[in-house]
Amino acid sequence: MKTQSIYQGLVDGNEKLALVGLGYVGFPAAVEFAKYVKVIGFDISEKRINAYKNGIDITGEAKENLKDTTVEFTSDPTKLKNARFIIAAVPTPSKEDETPDLTFLENASEMIGKNLAAGSIVVFESTVYPGVTENVCVPLIEQASGLKCGMDWKIGYSPERISPGDEIHRFPSIRKIVSGMDRETAAEIQKVYNLAVKAGTHLVSDIKTAEAVKLIENSQRDINIAFMNEIAKICDKLNIDTNEVITGMNTKWNALGFKPGLVGGHCIGVDSYYLMEIAKKLGCSTPIVSGARRVNEGMGGYIADIAVREMEAIRKNIKKAAVVILGITFKENCTDIRNSKVIDLVNRLKFYHIEPVIADDRADSKDVEEMYGIKLVPFDRLPPADCIIAAVGHNEYRAISTERLLGMFKPCLQNSEKVLIDVKSIYSADELHASGIRFWRL
Ligand SMILES: NC(=O)c1ccc[n+]([C@@H]2O[C@H](COP(=O)([O-])OP(=O)(O)OC[C@H]3O[C@@H](n4cnc5c(N)ncnc54)[C@H](O)[C@@H]3O)[C@@H](O)[C@H]2O)c1
Repeated sequence: MKTQSIYQGLVDGNEKLALVGLGYVGFPAAVEFAKYVKVIGFDISEKRINAYKNGIDITGEAKENLKDTTVEFTSDPTKLKNARFIIAAVPTPSKEDETPDLTFLENASEMIGKNLAAGSIVVFESTVYPGVTENVCVPLIEQASGLKCGMDWKIGYSPERISPGDEIHRFPSIRKIVSGMDRETAAEIQKVYNLAVKAGTHLVSDIKTAEAVKLIENSQRDINIAFMNEIAKICDKLNIDTNEVITGMNTKWNALGFKPGLVGGHCIGVDSYYLMEIAKKLGCSTPIVSGARRVNEGMGGYIADIAVREMEAIRKNIKKAAVVILGITFKENCTDIRNSKVIDLVNRLKFYHIEPVIADDRADSKDVEEMYGIKLVPFDRLPPADCIIAAVGHNEYRAISTERLLGMFKPCLQNSEKVLIDVKSIYSADELHASGIRFWRL
């Protein structure tokens, strides 16, 4: 099978590229590619497709006016028959027992297979452990299409590195790892990605290597954040400020710059489990990766325990305390609520019979209620608090002045009775200490 013509066909406007799965990864990629080639944007969610058709970006990741994009949005899988370059970016979450859930990927592979035109290239972007693309996706596509991989169509893998809410590192400005089943396919895939990824691409020698790059770069972050979380717990016992310790440490040339925090979301909080799965299959133990996961999984509960400790230091009956939590998305400045570790914080507070009130105007309140059974309160309707936990560092929370912050507590309280837990260290410690407030940060 000759694949060289696909890139040229795309550039000449004779061929189409399709994105399968238009979420945080697939949607901005579709919009970006559409600036250079003809793009079909397919998703099984009609709700998402209708939103995009109406110019609503539910991911918040494509900065363009959607009305101007030429992406052909569809929930009809047969439209994929018109594409010769198919990129799949469907979810790869973990199951309740923390093992990889490949169901979305398997379903997408079958669906791509059923609608695959001979002579196409299929590239997976979903995060998986090494071997999944070739051993799970390829057989399913072959079976559904009746077409042989390597003969009738080709396969590649290119992991995505975007981080929702990051204004600087975006699809076109992040160097992309690319790989293909053979040199010719890899070169073709690289040329196609180079059209839209202005930061360029980094070709690795095979698909398994590309799959490993993604898992390991994220596990590396998981491990380092876990280390900082462990340090934060020690600093708390020493009664010293973790932030000041880390700032001091970071003046050394070889410091890594990690900070403590809640590790949730669809990537870092999940990918280590994928790495642990392949290691287990290979008979390798992963004490560092699994230890880091345990530390990070415990941080929501730890922060709740600290909030309770701080409240108990000034009042007896904490059950009646009005606890306000700022933020529920898994990280700052994004809308994504999946695998948010704020939920662990909420659940541990409930264990103490505290019903916190949570605000996050960035999150879709219906989705939050559906996913977690939590009714969000708009920020401007938050009740006066005994304790505020600033859990997520959204820009709008960072912008709250010390004076305004102090005004968010119950008016009857002395400053010394107001408890502020600043999980992401977004407020001025000097100003807050000077105010006399009871202030703790991770
Ligand atoms: N979100 C991130 O920051 C990020 C970053 C890098 C990599 N990744 C990886 O990229 C992949 C996609 O993640 P995401 O955050 O974009 O997920 P997402 O849930 O935001 O989007 C996935 C989309 O795929 C659709 N979908 C599911 N099954 C489908 C099918 N069979 N056919 C077509 N569409 C289907 C869903 O309706 C959804 O719109 C995952 O493997 C994830 O680990 C995510």
